[in-house]
Amino acid sequence: MATLSEAYTETPLHLQHIIPIDFDSVKEVPESHSWPRSGDESPRRILSLDGDHFSLPAIDLDSPDAIKMVGHACKVMGIFQVTNHGIPSSLLREVESQAWQFFSLPAIAKVRAVRSPGGATGYGVARMTPFFNKFMWHEGFTMMGSPLEHAREVWPHGYGKFCEAMEDYQDKMKALSERLLAMILKYLGISEHDIDWPRLRSNPCSALQLNSYPQCPDPGQVMGLAPHTDTFFLTILHQKDSAHGLQFHREGRGWVPVFPMDGALVVNVGDMLHIMSNAMFPSVVHRVITNEKRHRLSMGYFYGPPMDFRVGPIHRLMQTSGQEVAARFRSITVKDYVQMKAKNLDKALSMIRIR
Ligand code: OGA
Ligand code: NI
Repeated sequence: MATLSEAYTETPLHLQHIIPIDFDSVKEVPESHSWPRSGDESPRRILSLDGDHFSLPAIDLDSPDAIKMVGHACKVMGIFQVTNHGIPSSLLREVESQAWQFFSLPAIAKVRAVRSPGGATGYGVARMTPFFNKFMWHEGFTMMGSPLEHAREVWPHGYGKFCEAMEDYQDKMKALSERLLAMILKYLGISEHDIDWPRLRSNPCSALQLNSYPQCPDPGQVMGLAPHTDTFFLTILHQKDSAHGLQFHREGRGWVPVFPMDGALVVNVGDMLHIMSNAMFPSVVHRVITNEKRHRLSMGYFYGPPMDFRVGPIHRLMQTSGQEVAARFRSITVKDYVQMKAKNLDKALSMIRIR
């Protein structure tokens, strides 16, 4: 069974594109991390006129209309929040606290968990770093299942609580992802016979990504996470209370901030759901700015199909109301798409688009 790490072996990274700077030791923003002050790439550029007053809809998953609302939000925005999601707040606090413990360590200790050049898991900067001229004000820790291999390098005798919290969180996030995906398919009128549901669920490709955006001497100069779309079906994001920074891009509106809402999780559509829905659901472009003088933490759970699964527009979706709708994408295995994205980032989607 292919793994995500195997998909990355063809695109190994240099250590300079893995190991973050020592954020504790910088007194001013280095040139390497200073983004343009104007232009499309500028972190300062917020086109949204009324963005500050916009709040992303929160859908109560226990509501009788939840399926309709989730489907509608996927179609119109590609991003929404959910409440009554079943993830205990005690678990969210515990994962936050474990993540803080890790990111508060000195740089020399964190680097013991460093991601390998062709690997997918461990400590490091965002994998898309080589595609940009400047570095991001960000450090991350990625895991797929048990983080034991990395955690025990960091805490040889005290990794138990960290691993336990991360594994429990991933189990519950997986169940929530399946619940959301089932709701979305139901909204689309897709039955479990229309797609290979048992196989889709049997060995899903998923990852938990802890993100840390350290305090910055001049937040307006740096980019937390550069604009991107997520690769898999969907992402479920928890933002630690008061520290906001996530923004998504809306046509005609610009960058819209997503303020953390107590008890709510952010869900966004990724490339693979965009492909399977035959472009009905947008794979939402988002970024993170470090606009506050405080350390920000978030936890993203990425949920996708197994590595050898073929993603393509769902056949049944193209035969609605007696009319044949043309497929907008050719189908591709998850592994090939992940590799294509590792080599081409945002160009990957257009490479499989049928014109
Ligand atoms: C990501 C991401 C947003 C955030 O990890 O892909 O978009 O708020 N994170 O940290
Ligand atoms: Ni993302």
